Amino acid sequence: MTKPFVIAIDGPAASGKGTLAKKLATHYSLPHLDTGLTYRAIAYSMLEHNIDLTDEAAAVDFAEKLDFAQLDPELFASHTISEVASKVALLPRLRGILVSIQRQVAEKLPGAVLDGRDIGTVVCPSATVKLYIIADMETRARRRYDEIIAAGMTVSYNDVLADLKRRDERDMHRSSGPLKPAEDSYLLNTTKLNIEEMFEAASQLIDNERAKCSGFR
Ligand code: DC
Repeated sequence: MTKPFVIAIDGPAASGKGTLAKKLATHYSLPHLDTGLTYRAIAYSMLEHNIDLTDEAAAVDFAEKLDFAQLDPELFASHTISEVASKVALLPRLRGILVSIQRQVAEKLPGAVLDGRDIGTVVCPSATVKLYIIADMETRARRRYDEIIAAGMTVSYNDVLADLKRRDERDMHRSSGPLKPAEDSYLLNTTKLNIEEMFEAASQLIDNERAKCSGFR
């Protein structure tokens, strides 16, 4: 029997989960889906068409037409898109549609690495391995600040910190698909880890978990 090998990675913004997910996908030769991009794509369309962010019918319409091949991380990278994405992510019907599209990626052989906020709890509750990535608030703000500066933009550290706190508040307290660890997830604190150390820790957990199960492709 073969079944998809699914690695679910959740955690707050700037916890390191995106970089880790990409590295794990390459290592295990699996496709990677950054589910945040699906929310960012809807945010982009809502802004482009000047639509009220509470207009759930319009958001649903965009989601139904969403082409996964068109998810462009660079086009959706701006701070404004990320802020609007966290607002449209509050809409439950929109979440339902994006979740079902994300699930289709995970259900295909050989499996996938998905990262987001609700992968282990809602999108893939029976994922092979679930990781929940955390880091101290100051470490996350410093990482995000360094990324923005490295990209040639200007920002103040305090603005980045305030933004992450607002984002956490919204992500953790929404009624549909809130950010929280699945009961069977492994908690990985990356505060003191660089990307190589994160990868080492995560791949050890994944290899151990995979060794316990059989039937993966
Ligand atoms: O991971 P990101 O910063 O690209 O995500 C942008 C927003 O999308 C984030 O504030 C919350 C939302 N999101 C979500 O609600 N569920 C997911 N699985 C992924 C992202």
